[in-house]
Parts: sequence; structure tokens; C-alpha cells
Amino acid sequence: MIRQNFKVDRTKRQNLLNQRPLLVWFTGLSGSGKSTLSNLLEVELHESGYKTYALDGDNIRQGLCNDLAFTEEDRVENIRRIGEVARLFLDSGVIVLNSFVSPFEKDREAVRNLVGSDNFIEVFVDCPLEVCEARDVKGLYKKAREGKIRNFTGITSPFEVPQKPDVIIKSAEEDPKDSLHKLLSIVEPKISIR
Ligand code: PPS
Repeated sequence: MIRQNFKVDRTKRQNLLNQRPLLVWFTGLSGSGKSTLSNLLEVELHESGYKTYALDGDNIRQGLCNDLAFTEEDRVENIRRIGEVARLFLDSGVIVLNSFVSPFEKDREAVRNLVGSDNFIEVFVDCPLEVCEARDVKGLYKKAREGKIRNFTGITSPFEVPQKPDVIIKSAEEDPKDSLHKLLSIVEPKISIR
């Protein structure tokens, strides 16, 4: 298939927005704090004038990926689609914040390769299973233990710990403000052309 080239390209869009696009990828167990951190970071970046967009597992699974379940095969397809969507957002010049369990190393690596490692930051939201389970914000761990939900990450489905994350956030130990500062110190130099 031939690729169509358009005159307004990534560089032109990037210059107009006055920022460098970046994909910040939060990975971790359900309830580890991915969405909370993504939210904190997005508010800060937005208030500083950066154009951002946040993609989140719970939301995307209600639309684009509502045909997918939580089998290994479906999770692979979920992350593949999200990677492609993120690539389009990056091409549009936006800073993308993705929070997905994304339990498989090879899928996270595939996204890194898809968008280019210069445009990708992997954030491992490292929270012990016991803490996530004790929080059980959505009551999903209880259901998983009762056998009412199959393939639940950390219980009946694996989570592969990132081997070389760019950032590790110990969300059960760190003050969220400190985590935010840590993230900003890595993200801002990559997105700023001011
Ligand atoms: S994945 O593994 O990346 O494809 O998952 P993701 O798209 O991020 O969706 C995770 C959210 O779906 C809810 N949920 C489950 N998570 C893990 N395993 C099972 N079986 C499951 N069933 C439902 C859960 O609310 C996850 O959201 P977070 O924000 O991570 O808690």
C-alpha cells in the first residue's frame, strides 16, 4: 500500500504547538495509582500550557477496545491498538499520557519501538499486590479472589515487572507530590522547546 504524504507534517505541527511530543506510559497493577499519577501530571502540564491527551484502560475499553476481554491474546491486541492511537497523537504533536496495566514486557517494548525510544518514557508504578488488594477501590480483587472475574492481573494473570523502566514510582511509599516532581524533572526537558 502506498503512504500518502501531507504537506502539513509533524515538524510543522510541533512548531505550531511549541512543544515536542512525548508518550508517557504508566504501567502497573490495577489500583497501583497509574491514573492518579497520569491525572496529576496532566493537570500540571496543561496548566503550564502544554497540549496533552490522556488515554486510560477503563475509558478505552468502553469504546475502541470494547470487543476485547482480558485473555493474553486480547491484552496484546489492546496494547497494540493503544500504541497505534498514541502514535497518531504523537504525530499530531500532542503529549500523550497512557495508563494501562500493560502486563507484558514485549508489548510495552513494541510500543517503544513503534513510536521511537526518544519519544517514549516508561513509568513503572510499583505498588505491592497486597497494597493494591487492600485498597481494592473498584472491588475487583475481591471478585477475582471469589473466582467471579477470570484472568485478573496479579491473581490469575501475570504481570511482568519492567526490566528497564525510565522511572519507578513507589506509589505506596512516596508522597504523590514527590512522585509528580520526579516525573516533571524527566518529562519537561523532553517536551520543552521554549
Ligand atoms: S491491559 O492488561 O493493559 O489490557 O488492561 P487495561 O486495558 O489497562 O484495563 C485494566 C482495567 O480494567 C479493569 N479490569 C481488569 N484489570 C486487570 N485484569 C482483569 N481481569 C480486569 N478486569 C477488569 C480494571 O479496572 C483495570 O483498571 P485499573 O485502572 O488498572 O485498575
